[in-house]
Parts: sequence; C-alpha cells; structure tokens
Amino acid sequence: MALSDPLDPHPWARELGTLHDRHAPARHPTLATVSPDGMPKARTVVLRAADRSLGRLEIHTNLHSSKIADLMAKPVAALHVWDSGSWLQIRLQVDVKVASGTDVADTWARVPERSRTAYSSSRAPGHPIPAALAYDHAPDPAVFAVLQLDIQTLDLLHLGADHRRAQFTRENDWAGQWLVP
Ligand SMILES: Cc1cc2nc3c(=O)[nH]c(=O)nc-3n(C[C@H](O)[C@H](O)[C@H](O)COP(=O)(O)O)c2cc1C
Repeated sequence: MALSDPLDPHPWARELGTLHDRHAPARHPTLATVSPDGMPKARTVVLRAADRSLGRLEIHTNLHSSKIADLMAKPVAALHVWDSGSWLQIRLQVDVKVASGTDVADTWARVPERSRTAYSSSRAPGHPIPAALAYDHAPDPAVFAVLQLDIQTLDLLHLGADHRRAQFTRENDWAGQWLVP
C-alpha cells in the first residue's frame, strides 16, 4: 500500500473508483450519525458519487429522515465499509452539508423514476403506520436531500498474512501514517 499517494494506488481509490459497479462493497456503506440526545445511529446508504480530487462523497436521502435532524445538530458522520473480498475495513470521518430544494434540482432530475418513491412527503421515514404498506409512494422533490460528505480522515485496516493499518487525514494533505493495527 503506497502511503505517499493515498488517493490513487491503494484500495481506497479502487473502491471508490468503481462506484458505478453495483456490487462494489463501497457502494453500500454504513453511515453513522449522533442524534441530538447523544445516541449513536447507523444505517445502510448508497454512495451516489465520489470526487477523489476533492475528497468528497455524495448520498441521497429524505429531508424528513431522522439522520437529517442528527446532522442539523451535529454536521459530522462516520462511514464504514467491510470489503470481505479484499479483507479490507475502510472507515471515514466526514463533515456533512445538507442541500435541498432548488440547490439539488439538477440532481433530482437524474434520479430514476423507480428510486423517487423513497422521497415522499406524506409521512417521515420511521413514522408509525397501521399496516406494512400503509404509506404513500408519491414522490415529492421538496423532500429530496443531497448529503455532501467532505472526508476528514480515512482509516484502512487490511487483514492479510500480516495485518496493516494506515490513516490519512485532510489536515495533513492526505499524507499517510502507519498505525498499530
Ligand atoms: C441497501 C440499502 C440502501 C439504502 N440506501 C439509502 C440511501 O441511499 N439513503 C437513505 O436515506 N436511506 C437508505 N436506505 C435506508 C436506510 O438504511 C434507513 O432505513 C433510512 O434512511 C432511515 O434512516 P434514519 O431514520 O436513520 O434516517 C438504504 C437501505 C438499504 C438496506
């Protein structure tokens, strides 16, 4: 693993460079936030875009989902990926910006029809309903939100014949540092 150029030759680039591949493990990371009352919350999401030069990722969500309240209170999150094929754990700490409304109109226009039902305004995700399918499927662009994730730290743990762990930080211009695994 080359430490000098973290955003190119090592597995992080390989993972994020294959976002379009629906089967890449980094496509479905776990996003963890902290709720306003201090409770940790984690859920699976889809990584929609990655810009390696900016160290920036994008996730789509419903503006009424509880993660938004978490991020309004504390605009930070962690992302976790376990790539079992490469025996690689990827952990990211990110600063998060929430965009919605006219700011994300272009992105909404590119959301496939079948995916838009996740963005319905009648009831927030997590709201109790009397039966499993008693919810509205009508899409509402007003509740579509884009999370912009600016990576601050990247922690890689590789389990091989020897175990290796490295950390890369934006603060240090992505210079790598080996760590005790
Ligand atoms: C494979 C998979 C992909 C998912 N992708 C997303 C996603 O991209 N955005 C999202 O908001 N929720 C996504 N979800 C649903 C979340 O895991 C979660 O149930 C939902 O966002 C509500 O979470 P919250 O109440 O913690 O905000 C996905 C779930 C699964 C199983």
